[in-house]
This record gives sequence, structure tokens and C-alpha cells, in this order.
Amino acid sequence: MIPSKVKIVEVGPRDGLQNEKEFVPTETKIELVNRLARAGIVNVESTSFVSAKWVPQMSDAAAVMTGIERRPGTIYSVLTPNMRGFEGALESKADEIVIFGAASEAFSQKNINCSIAESIARFEPVAKAAKDAGMRLRGSISCALGCPYQGEVSIESVVDVVERMKALGCDEIDIADTIGVGTPKRTREVMAAVQKVFPRERLSGHFHDTYGQAVGNIYAALLEGIEIYHASVAGLGGCPYAKGATGNVATEDVVYLMNGLGIETGVDLDQLVEIGDFISRAINKPSSSRAGRAILTKKRDGAAACA
Ligand code: HMG
Ligand code: MG
Repeated sequence: MIPSKVKIVEVGPRDGLQNEKEFVPTETKIELVNRLARAGIVNVESTSFVSAKWVPQMSDAAAVMTGIERRPGTIYSVLTPNMRGFEGALESKADEIVIFGAASEAFSQKNINCSIAESIARFEPVAKAAKDAGMRLRGSISCALGCPYQGEVSIESVVDVVERMKALGCDEIDIADTIGVGTPKRTREVMAAVQKVFPRERLSGHFHDTYGQAVGNIYAALLEGIEIYHASVAGLGGCPYAKGATGNVATEDVVYLMNGLGIETGVDLDQLVEIGDFISRAINKPSSSRAGRAILTKKRDGAAACA
């Protein structure tokens, strides 16, 4: 049954900005996180504690986490590939850490420089430390619907990594279509398979929109009862280790979809559209959100007509 309420996890400040070549000022990142939380986003993936050599854009992670306001009830998440990242997350009082692996061996090597099995071993102490510190733990599985290096990824290998992440104690697990190749049929099959081994209400869909399938895939995942969706305001982003991958599905488009379906998100679409405009101007790129652009145009034309 389609859920009546979903949680939107905003990943723009992390997944969205990590791929920007020009360094985005820390102040802009802080304002982005703050405005998203104020618009009703209850989980903001704010930054990554990763190697600055690998992802220079995230080198100000500690400053971002120090600068943001903490709204009660909002979860501020950060990516942590290893213990060094975890220490940064702990010090900066992140609410949730994200360990990120892949269902594809080739992608695991390119993204985090180790095999799937090695990554799980590397995550073990991180997961334990997070639990000991009372932090939420999320596991993200890249290439669940296809890989830029090896192509086809079997459903069995996705289920296998879900089981390993479950054994690590993950509270939530993300099924990620890193390069946006998935289609609704495959999405339904994968979402149906993973919920046989992990509670459905703690699984999320993380869809990049490279092939324009993300909204369709979200609808497919809704049909499988999935209640958590990741999105990036203005459709920002792409993965630095997935050539050709474009941004996540735009948050504005997801909220518009949910509003149309009568599914509660708690997010203010008008505010979100303004935030999409703010960050697009700040990085000097047009927004990729279809709904965002349409709503903004309508608003501005309306204002001009009344002037
Ligand atoms: P490595 O080179 O194998 O490991 O990197 P290392 O331990 O030899 O470290 C290399 C250097 O990084 C050293 O510095 C370390 O100190 C430093 P040096 O001695 O050479 O000066 N270092 C760190 N610095 C800061 N914070 C840390 C840290 N760890 C090591 N935590 C490593 C391994 C995992 C660190 C590296 O590969 C890395 O940082 N990768 C980042 C990958 C990444 O951020 N990818 C994008 C996010 S994932 C994504 O976008 C997918 C997702 O959206 C889902 C989807 O769509 O699929 C989540
Ligand atoms: Mg991603």
C-alpha cells in the first residue's frame, strides 16, 4: 500500500555540493542547511568527513557543523568512511553518521579505494563507536541499480550488502541509484527483495536523475511501500567517482509529487523553491528542478502582471 506520509532526507548540502569544482563558501553551505531545516526538512545530510584530497569541496566539514543552527527534532547527518571521519562527526555533534559502501566491487574500489569486504571490515569499528556514542547509524549502498564500471548489478549482491549493513546495526539503509540508470520495473524488484531482509520502514530510495527516471522510480518505490526518499534541492550534484552521474532528484519535484498524491512530507514547497533559487544563484548554475523552475516562473510572472 502507498504510504500516507514519507520522510524526505535532503542531501543537497552533501551529495549536491560535493561535486562542485569551485569551492562553495562555508557561509553559503551553512545558510543552505539552515534554510532547508526551517522549510521543514527533518533530516539534512549536511557534509562529509572524508579525505580533502578525494573530495576537496567537503574540506570545511567541521566548520559547517559548527556554524549551523540545530533545530530540535532535526537530524543532521554526515558521511564517515572510516574512524578518522567518525571522530570528526563525534566532535562536531552530528546526530547521524553514514557509512557508504557499494553493491559493485568496481565502484567500491573507485569510490573508497577498497573491496566490498574490506569496506565492511573498515565500517565495523565505526558502527560500534556510533552505537556506543548513541548516534544514529545509516548505511548507503551505491550502484544498487547499476554501476558505471561493471554495468549490471545483481539483486543478490544488493541484498547481500543490505544483510551486511544490517549486521553492523544500521538503523536505516539507503538503496542508491548512483548513476540514475534504474527504471521503475527494476526499482520495484530491488525494493521488494531488500524488504525481505530489512524492515521496509527503515529503507530509503536515493535516486540520481541522470536518465530522467527518478520521479518514476520514486513512484515505483512508493508502490512497494518505501517511506523515506533522498533528494537534493535544485537537483544539485553528482558523484565525483561516477562519471556522467548528474544530481539527485530535485527535492522540489519530489515534494510536488507527494503533494499531488496527498502524501504528507511536512515540507513547505514555496520555501523550498526559494531555497533552490538561492543555491542556484550562489553557485551560478540553473536549477535542474522542473517544478522549482515552473513555480518560480509562475510566481514572478504573476508578480509582474500585478505590478
Ligand atoms: P585512502 O587513500 O585509501 O586512505 O582513502 P588512507 O587512509 O591512505 O588516507 C589517504 C589520505 O586521506 C591520508 O592523508 C589520510 O590522513 C586522509 P595523507 O596522509 O595522504 O595526507 N584521510 C582523511 N582525511 C579526512 N577525513 C577522513 C580521512 N580518512 C583518510 N575521514 C578514503 C580512503 C575512504 C578516506 C577516501 O577514499 C575518501 O575519502 N573517499 C571519499 C569518497 C567520497 O566522499 N565519495 C563521495 C561520497 S559517496 C556518494 O556520493 C554516494 C552516495 O551519494 C550514494 C549514491 O548516490 O550512490 C552516498
Ligand atoms: Mg548520491
